[in-house]
Amino acid sequence: MDEHRPDTGQGRDPGGPHGEAALAAAAQALRDGGLVILPTETVYGLAGNAADPAAVAAIFEAKGRPRFNPLISHVADLATAETLAVFDDRARSLAEAFWPGPLTLVLPIAKDTVVCDLARAGLDTVALRVPAHPLARALLTAFGGPVVAPSANRSGRPSPTTYADAMEETGDKAAASLDGGACEIGLESTVVALLDEPRLLRPGAVTRAQIEALIGSLAEAQADAKRSPGRLARHYSPKAPVRLEALGPEPGEAYLAFGPGVHRWNLSPSGDLREAAANLFSYLREADRTDPRAIAVAPIPHEGLGEAINDRLKRAAGFVG
Ligand code: TXA
Ligand code: MG
Repeated sequence: MDEHRPDTGQGRDPGGPHGEAALAAAAQALRDGGLVILPTETVYGLAGNAADPAAVAAIFEAKGRPRFNPLISHVADLATAETLAVFDDRARSLAEAFWPGPLTLVLPIAKDTVVCDLARAGLDTVALRVPAHPLARALLTAFGGPVVAPSANRSGRPSPTTYADAMEETGDKAAASLDGGACEIGLESTVVALLDEPRLLRPGAVTRAQIEALIGSLAEAQADAKRSPGRLARHYSPKAPVRLEALGPEPGEAYLAFGPGVHRWNLSPSGDLREAAANLFSYLREADRTDPRAIAVAPIPHEGLGEAINDRLKRAAGFVG
């Protein structure tokens, strides 16, 4: 039995926060300028109409997010995305390969893009993603237009990967909510900018190697507020300090293990990076609730999805940049 297995939400009460009525209410909430707790395959988002500056302002407010940090616009398909941004061949090939899925593309805005200025933090670029989660897709299709959805945590906290965690973070700010079960991936989407040379702004479940196989080598993010605003923001911090590369806990510490061994929190006893990614944020939250002196985390291999896991761990430990 694995209590952390992703829950697809199938076979539930159709009147609950995942059925037809909940979907219709969520689409109506978006049209009315309200916010929606939205499940995706990566993490839960706090969603609003990307074309409505008041709704977008309410998201920044609810999260306590600095307004220089722009939001991702989520759409139902590539055709809708192409009305919002300018796609070159590289962008189209990545979109065709990985959408719907955990990849965000930062592209120049289309002349008549409806994504409002505030959602883009005033930039002439826009971040776009087509999520794969069936409830997210159903809502985007019902609503029609682009939907901004930053992770549903308050700014600086770990992203929520369960409905309960999302509701605890910003549920009180939402007019509607959809319960899509536990997020299958558990880490935010990979963010790639295609402006000058392709750059990896945030590693994620679509790996560097998968992207490079299609469009060639990826440059690093610049330390530039205009092109990589997300790198200035504080991120993913639990209350307790986080100690990395720990081979075991010291007295008073909570320990997040990786690999064989019996521990209260083992990110993956079999050493599987997908399982570790899916467990990471919820275990950080659970460990933090026990008020430890620190949260010690075992070394995680760096290849593949390990790059994204180590990126989030470094940020949780306070090393930003
Ligand atoms: O998996 C995800 O992407 C989740 C789910 C809910 O879809 N959303 C998410 O959103 O992680 P958020 O707002 O927490 O992260 C968006 C990232 C930030 O690092 C932001 O700086 C970057 O995307 N970003 C957004 N627009 C950008 C732009 N125009 N140029 C550069 N970076 C941008
Ligand atoms: Mg976030």
